[in-house]
Formats: sequence, structure tokens, C-alpha cells
Amino acid sequence: MSAKISINKTSVSSLSKLDFDNIPFGKVFTDHMYLADYENGEWKDFRIVPVDFMPTHPGNLAWHYGQAIFEGMKATRDADGNALLFRPEQHSIRLNESAHRMCMPELPEDIFLDAVHTLVNLEKNWIPQQEGSALYIRPLMYATDATIGVRPSDTYRFLIFCMPVGPYYPKPVSLLVSREYVRAVKGGVGEAKTAGNYAASLYPALLAKKQGYDQMMWVDAIEHKWVQEVGTMNIFFKINGEIITPATDGAILKGITRKSVIDIFRDHGYTVTERPISIDEVEEAYEKGILEEVFGSGTAAVISEVERIKVDDKIIHLDASKFVASKFAKNTINQLRIRKIEDKFNWLVVAEDRSVPVTA
Ligand code: COI
Repeated sequence: MSAKISINKTSVSSLSKLDFDNIPFGKVFTDHMYLADYENGEWKDFRIVPVDFMPTHPGNLAWHYGQAIFEGMKATRDADGNALLFRPEQHSIRLNESAHRMCMPELPEDIFLDAVHTLVNLEKNWIPQQEGSALYIRPLMYATDATIGVRPSDTYRFLIFCMPVGPYYPKPVSLLVSREYVRAVKGGVGEAKTAGNYAASLYPALLAKKQGYDQMMWVDAIEHKWVQEVGTMNIFFKINGEIITPATDGAILKGITRKSVIDIFRDHGYTVTERPISIDEVEEAYEKGILEEVFGSGTAAVISEVERIKVDDKIIHLDASKFVASKFAKNTINQLRIRKIEDKFNWLVVAEDRSVPVTA
């Protein structure tokens, strides 16, 4: 079933102002956004309109009690000019898992997919073709009831906007491990892609920046030693030939790039183990000289190498230029996304116009 999407196109596109060779991450928006509203138990008013400010009541529940969830996806182009979506159905599944945890309504998969397809198809001329660049797609859902009181909203908005982006981390990153601050605890909302998880990370990340580190590497909230994730990406360690990534345990975001990279590695013959890994084990491996690579994975980050980690008063230094597995994963994902190599997992889908013309 396809939902009717009305399209109101802008009369003034800003595409001609875009310098495709110099795109800052997250600052340039395409012309249009998709909107749908939830009221009386159903999604309705599916529409694409020019990107604009949206008036919001001061009592909006999302602002006060944080019912806001989102996804991050990317679209690329192949040599024939098709706009390609990467595993869009996985993002629909994860959005609904986040919605469930945050007491928000399910968005049926066909509504999600029709929206992403139609918007990305409309904006396909914005997709950068430069290596490592893409069209970043941001689906989001938030509460819209105007009322004060800690309870789930009855009304919601789902929207999608797009941004042409260059690399999130143009160079290898440095990470700080804190035994004091935590991102998430089992039973909490760490697995949901909800705004509050990112808000909670801002202050510790600022302290990390002040010490010269790009981000925090989070460890668990009970023993303060089990590695979780970076907040902007999931994390992988290559120790003595084996690739290890923390098993998702309820407090770690179930990254779609994480899952894809695991499949790519295994398909290529690497051993990948998903299990609890402590920061002490990482340090010990470093001291023994068997910590070969550390890298993160995420939609925005793609694969980003880690060259420095500070744990307590010790610093782990790695030479990212010597990493082999991370480069293999990054090249494979980047080339697969533009169909330069075979899409053997069938992850790519051509974005198509799924709007139904609305007659007056
Ligand atoms: C993504 O990887 O898409 C995210 O949402 C994380 C953020 C660093 C942009």
C-alpha cells in the first residue's frame, strides 16, 4: 500500500550555491523536507514541502520530556545517475524499536520507505559524487502535544530532511575513556536512537575536547570497564588477528553500519567476535604489542580509524596509516555504495518517486 504524498516544490532551489568540493558536515540542507502527522491513532497528511522553520508551541512535550528519536541514513549515486539507498528497511526497523522504547507510535514500514524513496529521488541532484561524500538523510519523530505533565504525547510529527555531506571525521580520531561519566546503563535507553543519549554525551565530550580528545569512548556504568561505544560510532578492536566488537547488550546502539561491517569482514575471511571486551584487555593487548587496530563504524563516521586512546593515566598510541582491516572495510563500503563493486548482499535500493499525484 502506498500512502498519498503531496509535493509542493520550491520555486527557488539553493542547489547552485553548493560547492560540492567543500561541504561541511551537517550545515547544508537540500530544498525539501517530508512531513507526516500522527493524531487520533493514525498517521496522515503525507507531504513534501520546501525546508522551512516550523512553528512550535512552548509546551511541546518533546522539548520538556524528550520524546524525540531519529535515524541517520545515506544515499549515494551510481554511474548511471541512480540515487541509491543503503539498507533503508533496517532503518525503519530500528526507528520503530526506538519508538517502542520511548512510548511513541509505530510508523508503518511502507510509510517510512515511500517517504525516503520519494524525498531522496526528488533531491538526487544534491548527492555529492566526491569520494567519502554522500547525501545524509535524517528521519526523525517527536512529540507534538502542547501540555505539561510527564506522560507520552498523543500526537507526533515524523519528518525527513537531507544534507549533502563530506566525511564526518576527515582524519583519525582520539578517544578519552572516563571512569566517571557514563552514557547508558542496561535497562535504560542506550539502545534507542533518542535525542537524550546525545545530550548526555555533550558535557563529557566537551571535557574530552579540552584535554585534546575528539570524543569519549564509553565504558559501562556499573564496573566502569566494559567498552560500549563512542556515541558517534560503534567500536572495533583488532587484537592478534581477531576483530572484536562489544556485543550489543541493551546499552549500545545497534549500528546498521556495525552489522554490515561484521558481514563484510566475515565474508572476506576475517574472524569477528561480538563479546564483552574490557578496557583493561585493550590496554594489556597494547602492552603486549598485539593491539593492531582500533576503528569505529557509523552512518556518519562510515569507518573512522582511532589513533590515540587515553585510559586513566596511560595513553595508547596507534599508527592508523598501518591499519589494514579498517581500510578494507572503509573501501568496501564506499565502493559498494556507488556500485563500483558487486552488491553481493543486496543492500542497495534505487530511490524512486513513490508519490501519488494529489488531484485538486
Ligand atoms: C549517524 O551516524 O548517522 C549518527 O546519527 C551519529 C551522529 C554522529 C551524526
